[in-house]
Amino acid sequence: MLSRKAKSFIYVMLGPAMKVNGLVHRFFKHPDSSAVIRVHLGPGQKRYIPGWLNLDANMFTGKCDVWVDLRNTLPFRTGAVAAFYSHHMVEHLPDLEKHFKDVYRCLRPGGVYRVAGPNGDAAIRKFVEADAGWFPDWPDNRYSIGGRLENFIICRGEHRTILTESFLFELMSNAGFTDISKVLPMTETKHPDLFQDCLSFESEKDFETPRTLVLEAVKS
Ligand SMILES: C[S@@+](CC[C@H](N)C(=O)[O-])C[C@H]1O[C@@H](n2cnc3c(N)ncnc32)[C@H](O)[C@@H]1O
Repeated sequence: MLSRKAKSFIYVMLGPAMKVNGLVHRFFKHPDSSAVIRVHLGPGQKRYIPGWLNLDANMFTGKCDVWVDLRNTLPFRTGAVAAFYSHHMVEHLPDLEKHFKDVYRCLRPGGVYRVAGPNGDAAIRKFVEADAGWFPDWPDNRYSIGGRLENFIICRGEHRTILTESFLFELMSNAGFTDISKVLPMTETKHPDLFQDCLSFESEKDFETPRTLVLEAVKS
């Protein structure tokens, strides 16, 4: 894993080019507004979804369709997108209020955002229960329960926040979303017409305290 410093350096050096690329996409390469546009934010190295528009800053070790910094305004017209999906991406962003408001802007009425990330509620519960085995040995191999919690929540400084159900609910409802609900089991969706392609990414079997928290919300 690249250090946070190295990543920040890359974002500073390539930031202007990503900004221009986003503007070019928004104003000159935008898909036809009659198309059903589905957008995957942060596919990373292994989760590119064919048929979706996959957006990421990492086009070096992963694959994406639109190379952008997701801290910037999203490269879509207002009311153009049918669905957004992000999986273990939003916790990397510094301004979640801005993110959810901008996703809301881009969605068309009836559009849905399915957002998934590290489950802060479950981590706190497992920390209190001292269940060290629940936490992954990544990115650092820690034996203490506190070190393992730190691994999960902060991820060597990669994560900017802790995601809990109530916090995501607050952010989404402040942005204007309605019909906000936690998805459990994570392999399901209230909107199979939109998210069927994403469900295979949720391989976890622990439905009591899943490591990934998933919410879906609608723009009315
Ligand atoms: C932890 S990976 C998750 C990858 C994949 N979604 C998964 O669940 O395996 C986070 C992804 O978000 C992307 N990402 C994080 N912050 C970003 C930003 N500001 N702009 C664009 N992409 C970003 C990273 O490049 C990376 O591909």
